[in-house]
Amino acid sequence: MTTIAVGVLTLSCSKAQRSSGEDNNTTSSPAGGGSLAGKKVLIVYLSRTRNTQAVAQMIQREVGGRLVALELVNPYPQNYQAQVAQVVRENNENFLPPLKTKVDSLDTYDVVFVGFPTWDMKMPPPMKSFLNQYRLTGKTVVPFNTNAGYGIGSGFQTVKELCPNSTVLEGLSIRGGIERDGILFVMEGDREKQAQAEVKTWLQKLNFVK
Ligand SMILES: Cc1cc2nc3c(=O)[nH]c(=O)nc-3n(C[C@H](O)[C@H](O)[C@H](O)COP(=O)(O)O)c2cc1C
Repeated sequence: MTTIAVGVLTLSCSKAQRSSGEDNNTTSSPAGGGSLAGKKVLIVYLSRTRNTQAVAQMIQREVGGRLVALELVNPYPQNYQAQVAQVVRENNENFLPPLKTKVDSLDTYDVVFVGFPTWDMKMPPPMKSFLNQYRLTGKTVVPFNTNAGYGIGSGFQTVKELCPNSTVLEGLSIRGGIERDGILFVMEGDREKQAQAEVKTWLQKLNFVK
């Protein structure tokens, strides 16, 4: 299944639209009470075509907290096929690309949302870099994901493996763009509303919002 999906995804080429970059907005306090009352929330995400970023912003609107976009010292190629080839190589070599993003005062956060697209049916290498570099020991970790319709793959399992001393909650994986087919940002109109509803239902299930 993994091999088939990856094979399909590497077949065609399309334009890449890069994320608008670092984004360190903070809202005043977590909304919604529940088990997040009095907790400090960090939302760290990786996004190339802004779908995962849009979901990160939806989460922030519901629970507050600080948003941080992961950026690399050496950005990936714009060309989709070149990027897929590079990611496959990095996965094979277990290469962890160095991050340009520095997250200060990580110790002060209780709950860390970690969001990333599915790449090569796995967690993207930059998110592996983040989870390797920053210890989320003792924190509650909440994963989320967007993908082209093939699902999360091994991504949430990798979160658990890289955060052995954290409480990892149930993740949310939702359909985003299909860059292979030239479908980049989709989080607008009806799709945005649907995604917002999925985010809200998931946060309610986690008892983060009412
Ligand atoms: C290098 C690369 C590999 C990808 N591999 C997969 C995959 O294996 N399965 C899948 O469902 N989607 C895959 N996708 C599609 C993305 O997961 C999907 O478009 C996602 O919504 C992109 O999120 P973003 O807009 O935040 O970058 C891949 C995209 C890229 C750029």
